[in-house]
Amino acid sequence: MKVLLLNGSPRKEGCTYTALSEVAAVLNENGIETEIFQAGDPARENVKAAAEKMKTADALVVGSPVYWASPSGQIIEFMDQFVSMAGKDLEHKPAAAVASARRAGTTATLEVLTKYFNFYQMPVVSANYWNMVHGNTPDEVRKDEEGLQIMRILGRNMAWLLKCLEAGKNAGVEIPETEEKIKTNFIR
Ligand SMILES: Cc1cc2nc3c(=O)[nH]c(=O)nc-3n(C[C@H](O)[C@H](O)[C@H](O)COP(=O)(O)O)c2cc1C
Repeated sequence: MKVLLLNGSPRKEGCTYTALSEVAAVLNENGIETEIFQAGDPARENVKAAAEKMKTADALVVGSPVYWASPSGQIIEFMDQFVSMAGKDLEHKPAAAVASARRAGTTATLEVLTKYFNFYQMPVVSANYWNMVHGNTPDEVRKDEEGLQIMRILGRNMAWLLKCLEAGKNAGVEIPETEEKIKTNFIR
């Protein structure tokens, strides 16, 4: 099993990366492969490369720094393209959002990122608090003991859910049948 983790910061190994690394370490301890993908560059070819990786990934984690109390512009631009490219490869796969901030705007950031998961029927994985770390530098994030604990619990919960889904599949539990989408545009 494999989890794709998107780092939505232009800083390759900054605070968001530090948080995602903690999630990845716990997933690895549970026998799950991980890849942290640099999604701070929303160029089409880069998004395409991530969408390609989603074909074989069993779950998704999207991390973003907080910019102006919202996700980074880079990850919004990235995700807008990524979800339409990855489409069916997202459906019914567990997902989680992670935010990194100096101080404020984390819950708004998590809400925006979670909306992509809701649209694609992805079970949303949580921890024992909202998935956030605090700091302006990786060293500050490493001192955020509560934040790092949230990341570890998130990783364990994701590993547990992935194993439950696999056990269910092996026991014959099928993905629910779908319906053709009805789009009413609020017109009666
Ligand atoms: C353009 C910009 C806007 C920011 N806006 C906020 C903000 O609204 N709230 C906040 O707490 N931190 C804000 N920050 C700080 C970052 O969210 C914080 O340093 C984050 O941990 C950086 O993660 P990174 O190292 O992965 O990029 C901002 C940083 C930048 C560069």
